[in-house]
Amino acid sequence: MGKERSEKEKVGGGEHNKRNMFVSCVVMNSCAAELKLALTALLVLCSIATLFQILPSRFAISASDLRFCISRITTTTTTTTTTTSIAPLNSSSSTTSIAPLNSSTTASLTPSPPSAQKEQVAANGAIKRGFNPYGSAAYNFITMGAYRGGSDTFAIIGLASKPLLLYSKPTYQCEWVPESSSASNSTFSTVSYRILPDWGYGRVYTVVVVNCTFSEAVNGENSGGKLFLEASTSGGGDKNFNITDRFEVLNESPGDLNMTLFSSKPKYDYLYCGSPLYGGLSPQRVREWIAYHVRLFGERSHFVIHDAGGVHEEVLEVLKPWMELGYVTLQDIKEQERFDGYYHNQFMVVNDCLHRYKFAAKWMFFFDVDEYIYLPPKNTIKSVLDSLSDYTQFTFEQMPMSSKLCLSADYGRYYRKWGLEKLVYRDVKRGVRKRPEIRNPAAQCLCKRSAHVPELRRKNNS
Ligand SMILES: *[C@@H]1O[C@H](CO)[C@@H](O)[C@H](O)[C@H]1NC(C)=O
Ligand SMILES: *[C@@H]1O[C@H](CO)[C@@H](O)[C@H](O)[C@H]1NC(C)=O
Ligand SMILES: *[C@@H]1O[C@H](CO)[C@@H](O)[C@H](O)[C@H]1NC(C)=O
Ligand SMILES: *[C@@H]1O[C@H](CO)[C@@H](O)[C@H](O)[C@H]1NC(C)=O
Ligand SMILES: *[C@@H]1O[C@H](CO)[C@@H](O)[C@H](O)[C@H]1NC(C)=O
Ligand SMILES: *[C@@H]1O[C@H](CO)[C@@H](O)[C@H](O)[C@H]1NC(C)=O
Repeated sequence: MGKERSEKEKVGGGEHNKRNMFVSCVVMNSCAAELKLALTALLVLCSIATLFQILPSRFAISASDLRFCISRITTTTTTTTTTTSIAPLNSSSSTTSIAPLNSSTTASLTPSPPSAQKEQVAANGAIKRGFNPYGSAAYNFITMGAYRGGSDTFAIIGLASKPLLLYSKPTYQCEWVPESSSASNSTFSTVSYRILPDWGYGRVYTVVVVNCTFSEAVNGENSGGKLFLEASTSGGGDKNFNITDRFEVLNESPGDLNMTLFSSKPKYDYLYCGSPLYGGLSPQRVREWIAYHVRLFGERSHFVIHDAGGVHEEVLEVLKPWMELGYVTLQDIKEQERFDGYYHNQFMVVNDCLHRYKFAAKWMFFFDVDEYIYLPPKNTIKSVLDSLSDYTQFTFEQMPMSSKLCLSADYGRYYRKWGLEKLVYRDVKRGVRKRPEIRNPAAQCLCKRSAHVPELRRKNNS
């Protein structure tokens, strides 16, 4: 949006920088390296009008592969039964010896406040100073959603303390607890890894996607159960402690799990995941945008709009009819503003959307509401996407126009004019992975790229 754009431009450098960022982001697998980008990169990235598209396709996949699905759209309860367990290490006041983290004292349920350390004169005559910590400035983990991605795998999307992730190695593990204790014992995920899809661009918080995969199907009997996430600081924040927060992230009631839902044909052909909307959006522009794209994507399409404060009354009014027709789902995500991440926690929001809806559509689109998909004449969205059916993802290069070029005839009437940026599809091979190679879709989707589709042209260079 206008506001968003000007903010991007303000923060960012010139187009030269933007371009560099694109280049650095082209090879998706190298995303992790982006973590190392310093503050400058952070600023530069802000300048990128974001628009990226992930297009998970089902084509190249064996049917059994992924038709399993997120369990439910209703999943995400976070009735946190936070159990903080601290392994207190031998911190017997002043003569503190740094005990190893793994010294496992049995966990007490609530952390007892550390006894204050006092100054003492040590045997060698030195004054041994104490350091007394109080409180805790950032949450260990903030959940937004948890989704089943198959019979044995889950994704948990949220935010975590950025310095914790940046400077230490917090660990995550999932535990599945069956509803009826007689059924079976709780099991722990064998594989749990985390992705930082925003490459550390967050501020106090940064986005984390935890992938928990079990060695076998969980809740196979469909008798219900709960998924818990255990987030351990592993010495981050305080080297003496390994604080583990354990909380419920997903609850499947008995009979809740419907695997056929996931193996059936997706409900939609195209699903749009919008970035958080904020600021004084023009209802006229939103009305045009939605009408245009509903027409473009057709009847089997759906639009998920995230309201971070931008969907004020008049905008809601133009969205309402589309909501009633079933084209639009509006999600109020204003609460995330409490947590200072990056750009209204955009990366968390779109990752949540990805995992929440990925089994509901053939293709998902990620771009902003000040961006339009345009297809050259004689193309339809179907013909274009059919031509890309071998790919699971493609992106577009942004070719921003200068915001300083204006017709003098328009002077004083800019508010009535459309600002257009041309984003040209550049190279389908780049940043595209065939499904079997996608190990962390979330990270890949989140290689931010700008897109619009003025021209789809396939280059055969590789
Ligand atoms: C703490 O360490 C001291 C010295 O290493 C030892 O004498 C003491 O027993 C330890 N206390 C606990 C509770 O482990
Ligand atoms: C426990 O800590 C000690 C000393 O820090 C280390 O040598 C050992 O490998 C650790 N054990 C485990 C299981 O992490
Ligand atoms: C977790 O990772 C595994 C291995 O990369 C993948 O097969 C699975 O789909 C992922 N789970 C989710 C919920 O995305
Ligand atoms: C549950 O754990 C107990 C104790 O470890 C074991 O005896 C029992 O066989 C387990 N039950 C199942 C169903 O795995
Ligand atoms: C901290 O505790 C968690 C959960 O028990 C464990 O997986 C992790 O390895 C521990 N970290 C360290 C550094 O000991
Ligand atoms: C599971 O989902 C499918 C497809 O959405 C539906 O037709 C079926 O009735 C559902 N089954 C149950 C037991 O709810």
